[in-house]
Amino acid sequence: MTRIFVLNGVNLCSLGQRRPEVYGTLTLNNIETLLRDAFPDVDLEFRQTDYEGEMVGFVQEAGGSDGLVINPGAWTHYSYALHDALEAVDIPKIEVHLSNVHAREEWRRHSVISPAVDAVVAGMGAEGYVAAVRYVLTRIGEH
Ligand code: DQA
Repeated sequence: MTRIFVLNGVNLCSLGQRRPEVYGTLTLNNIETLLRDAFPDVDLEFRQTDYEGEMVGFVQEAGGSDGLVINPGAWTHYSYALHDALEAVDIPKIEVHLSNVHAREEWRRHSVISPAVDAVVAGMGAEGYVAAVRYVLTRIGEH
């Protein structure tokens, strides 16, 4: 079975309550359910952490899987550690943002993560996760 990691970073546990006008009303559990329903034949490893070192460990672990989708939250904008962890894993890697980071504050327009991934999805809400997993499947020739 194809195994894909879907990793969620700092503060994404608060989805649903946190700025719903920006991030939508779905909780992280809702997004997980959406993905499991959309991809019943994929072994999804869906995780969230507020700890940068733990996230680095998740990325290293994902290196042994078929692909990785990551919403790094605010780490997007400054975590060189996460960049380096992603750079070191040789699987399809997609960066996802619920909001359109390019239409927001200046500091959100720059991602230190993007150079280490294959593609970036921003502003599609939870649908962005679905698109990202679908693209990983395309990359590995599953669909
Ligand atoms: C986010 C965008 C980031 O700038 C922010 O810090 C987040 C969520 C998004 O999904 O739109 O926590 O990654």
